[in-house]
Amino acid sequence: MRTDMAALTPLLDGLTSRTSSSDGRAADRSTLPFPGAVPVDPDPAAEDLLPVHDLHDTLQRRRSSLVYGDQPVRTEVILAKLREVLVRDRDEWGLDEAAGALEAFVFALRSEGLAPGVYHVTADGCSHVAGLDEVGPVENLGIQREFSTAAGIAAFYANLDKADSWAGSHGYRVSAVRASMATYDLNLRCQAMGLVGTLFGGFIPASVRTLLNADGVARHPLLATTYAHPR
Ligand SMILES: Cc1cc2nc3c(=O)[nH]c(=O)nc-3n(C[C@H](O)[C@H](O)[C@H](O)COP(=O)(O)O)c2cc1C
Repeated sequence: MRTDMAALTPLLDGLTSRTSSSDGRAADRSTLPFPGAVPVDPDPAAEDLLPVHDLHDTLQRRRSSLVYGDQPVRTEVILAKLREVLVRDRDEWGLDEAAGALEAFVFALRSEGLAPGVYHVTADGCSHVAGLDEVGPVENLGIQREFSTAAGIAAFYANLDKADSWAGSHGYRVSAVRASMATYDLNLRCQAMGLVGTLFGGFIPASVRTLLNADGVARHPLLATTYAHPR
């Protein structure tokens, strides 16, 4: 871990700038739609969403893990939890209009119930945007191959174009904090349901850029978490 504060301080100071580093016209730009998207309305039974551990036990038990059980995970439950996470982010920050909404993609690799594949999730809804055949070998999408052995991966994306138009580097900083909170929100709620998972940087951006229409500006990857049954 880097602890050279003399090198880090100017970097942190740079994040205080509220001057847009671009043309400030993000409102004129948008991400491409997913033409083949199939809307999904996850509606698991209320008892399927209940935690099996309380907050104290969740925090005591939680571990990051690179080895996972082989059982599939109910994707409907993950999508429902993730949508709740994004609704909380929208409502608590109140910044979607000004600085862009957080969104997420779920790579459901071993899925019970819903079809495996890639799901796009926002606070407004979910859709299935690609099958695993379109993804190709998942272990090639990231640096650490262990993550692709999870039942699934949820990756969080922000609109840095809008965040920058809103408040320059400070907009990036706020986007990173929102994504971190949302990723831990999902990860800890999964752990409270008896699942395991590990936060990580996410896929190599270029490896999923075309699949997710992630141009790195209006849709930029910030953080991800695996989820799975424990081994
Ligand atoms: C922002 C962030 C990014 C991370 N990226 C990775 C990663 O790419 N690979 C990895 O093995 N661990 C990564 N980690 C670390 C693990 O998620 C975990 O926090 C760490 O192994 C400590 O284990 P613990 O969570 O069980 O205490 C990351 C953690 C954070 C907060």
